[in-house]
Amino acid sequence: MKLYKELAEWWPLMSPHTEYEEEAALYLELIRRYHADVKAAVEFGSGGGNNAFYLKQRFSMTLTDLSADMLKVSERLNPDCEHVQGDMKKLDLGATFDLVFIHDAIMYFTTKAELLEVMVNAKKHLNERGILMIMTDHFKETFKPVTDHGGIDAGKRGMRYLEWTYDSNPDDHVTETEYAYILRDENGTVFREYDRAESGLFSMPEWEEILAEAGFQANFERVEYTGLEGPYFAIVATQTADVDGTKN
Ligand SMILES: C[S@@+](CC[C@H](N)C(=O)[O-])C[C@H]1O[C@@H](n2cnc3c(N)ncnc32)[C@H](O)[C@@H]1O
Repeated sequence: MKLYKELAEWWPLMSPHTEYEEEAALYLELIRRYHADVKAAVEFGSGGGNNAFYLKQRFSMTLTDLSADMLKVSERLNPDCEHVQGDMKKLDLGATFDLVFIHDAIMYFTTKAELLEVMVNAKKHLNERGILMIMTDHFKETFKPVTDHGGIDAGKRGMRYLEWTYDSNPDDHVTETEYAYILRDENGTVFREYDRAESGLFSMPEWEEILAEAGFQANFERVEYTGLEGPYFAIVATQTADVDGTKN
């Protein structure tokens, strides 16, 4: 997506970190419920680092993303966190953590095989009691076409966006999102951009199956916060077995 490359500089105007405080507090509560003692976490697909801005106040966060441009944005917001570029399917930090956190990034995978690769890699980055937490926008069971809009001004610059998510073929595992951005630069010049993304759409039993194959037990936890048109579920995955089937 252009948003994570040439338009990355605009991310804080499209999605300012202050809009994430309420949801980050809910995620923290869920994390604590499954693992009261998280000290070190890694985020896969950390983007602009908006949830990390709040979570890092409770435990250390290592932030990883495919996009060097998004990492630069996050480095400005979270200069106290380590940032590493890498694809969450094969990134190897050579370390294990109490928590692998994946928020609003897992949907870029549209096949079960890719999801399994990510889950196996998440497992590799967890210590024995570690948990995996995934926030994905939709499940097959809950999907509804949705529109969203927003954006803010920052000095002379400003951004507004409209996004529309729909499912052109309910028989496959893919939904489509179209984005329209209107941007005003520091000289007052207004211009527009369009963007598009395909997202994976899987059922809860499919998630359970993929996670089980990677050695996790999936728990679906309802999440509700202001402005969110639910139902919305987080997946908290606890470890059951090593990938080769050995029990922990
Ligand atoms: C919406 S942002 C994540 C927002 C972030 N969770 C937060 O709290 O601010 C989605 C990010 O996923 C990243 N991403 C997409 N595919 C990826 C992959 N294969 N590996 C790592 N990151 C990826 C994108 O570059 C983008 O920065």
